Amino acid sequence: MSMNKPLQGVKIIDFTHVQAGPACTQMLAWFGADVIKVERPGAGDVTRSQLRDIPDADALYFTMLNSNKRSLTLDTKTQEGKEVLEKLIKASDVMVENFGPGALDRMGFTWERIQELNPKMILASVKGFSEGHHYEDLKVYENVAQCAGGAASTTGWWKGENSEPTISAAALGDSNTGMHLAIGILTAYIGRMQTGRGQKVAVSMQDAVLNLCRVKMRDQQRLERVGYLEEYPQYPHEMDAFKDKVVPRGGNAGGGGQPGWILKCKGWETDPNAYIYFTVQGHAWAPICDALGKPEWKTDPAYTTPQARQPHINEIFATIEDFIKDKTKYEAVNIFRKFDIPCAPVLSMAELLRDESLRKSGSIVEVQHPVRGSYYTIGSPIKFSELKPEVTASPLLGQHTDEVLEELGYTAQQIQAMHEGKAV
Ligand code: COA
Repeated sequence: MSMNKPLQGVKIIDFTHVQAGPACTQMLAWFGADVIKVERPGAGDVTRSQLRDIPDADALYFTMLNSNKRSLTLDTKTQEGKEVLEKLIKASDVMVENFGPGALDRMGFTWERIQELNPKMILASVKGFSEGHHYEDLKVYENVAQCAGGAASTTGWWKGENSEPTISAAALGDSNTGMHLAIGILTAYIGRMQTGRGQKVAVSMQDAVLNLCRVKMRDQQRLERVGYLEEYPQYPHEMDAFKDKVVPRGGNAGGGGQPGWILKCKGWETDPNAYIYFTVQGHAWAPICDALGKPEWKTDPAYTTPQARQPHINEIFATIEDFIKDKTKYEAVNIFRKFDIPCAPVLSMAELLRDESLRKSGSIVEVQHPVRGSYYTIGSPIKFSELKPEVTASPLLGQHTDEVLEELGYTAQQIQAMHEGKAV
C-alpha cells in the first residue's frame, strides 16, 4: 500500500477547540497536513479535562478529536505570544478557528491583519450563525445549532408525552460543520493554486445543519402547495397534523419517498436495541410479499402501488413485526437481505465498538496513548485506494512547543525566556 499523503506539506494553525473545529483539522491531519494545535498554556482545549474517565489523562473527548496533531502552547494575549503567532501565520497555509464571535479580532488578528502578514493565508472559521445574520453575536453549541438549523423541529414524535422538538445524537452542529469547513478549506487551497491568493472561508453551524435538513425544506414547500405530505405517518389518518402548514415531526418515518419504520425483533422487551429498520422500497414490493409469505398482496390493488399502500402502512409494518417477532435482529436481516430489501439491525455503541468489519476497514482503530494507554477511536470514514490514513495519538498539552518554536527560528535561550515569562 502506497503511503502517499496528499496533504503533506500543508501547514495548518489549528486554533480550534471543543468539537466543530477539531473534527475538521483532525481529518486534514489524517490526510497528511501538519496541524499545529495552538492552546492556552496551563489549560489547553477545554475537552482535555471534560468528562474524564481516567484521572489526569486527557479525556477521550479530546483524544478522539485531536489525533495526528502537534500541540503548541501559546498565550496569544501577551506581546511575545502575539509575535510567535505572527511568525506562525507567515509560515503557514491555513488557519482554522472556532472562537466565539469577534474573539480573533479582539486578539488583534483581524482578517486584514492576517492578509498583511500572509496574503496566501486561508482563514477558515466556524461560527454559530453566518456573518450579517441577526444572531451573529451568539455563541453556539451543538444542540443550539440543531434547534436553529431545523433539525430539532423535525425530529421526534408529533403526539404523546414526548412530543417536544428533539435533538439527534449525531453531531449535526459540530462535526458536520467541521466536515463542511474541510471541504471549504480544500476548495480555497485549490483556488490558491490558481490565483496565488488566500481567502476567508466560513461555515455557520446553522447553515451546516440546514444543509442536512434539505429534505425537510423540500417538505415545507410541498406542504404549502399541496396541504399534506403523503409519506408521513400522519397521512391519511391524522390530517390535523398538517393543518398549520408546518412540517410535522415524523417519528421514524423515512425522509425520502420510501416509507420505513423501526420494527421490534425477538427480545425487544429487555434489549433496547432489538430492532431493525425496514424500508418498503417501491420496486421491492414483490420480494417483500415473498419474504413475508403474503403472495396475495402482490396483485391486490389495495397494495400494489405506494399510494394504495399508504393507508395500510401501519398494518404492513405490523405484519412484518409479526413475522420477525421470533427472530433476532440479525436473523431478520439475514432473511430480508436475500430478497434485496433495504434494511439493517439497530446497532448499539457496544456492538459497533466490537464490530470486526469496522475494525478491518479502519473505521474503528486502536491507538496507543502515552498516558492513557490504549483506546479506540473512529478512523477515517473516507477510504482511498492510495492512502490508508494512520491514526496516531493526540498530543499532550504543549508537547511540541519547543519543537515548533525552533522551527520558527527561536534559539534555546529565547524559548527558555518565553517559558519563564509564561508566554508558552
Ligand atoms: N491565548 C490567549 N487567549 C486565548 C487563547 C490563547 N491561546 N485561545 C483562546 N483565547 C481566548 C480568546 O481570545 C477569547 O477571549 P476573549 O473572549 O476575551 O476575546 C477566549 O479565549 C475564548 O473565547 P470563546 O471562544 O468565546 O470561548 P467560550 O468558552 O466562551 O465559548 C463556544 C465557547 C464554543 C461557545 C464559542 O467558542 C463559540 O461560539 N464558537 C463558535 C461556534 C462553535 O464552534 N461552537 C462549538 C462547536 S463544538
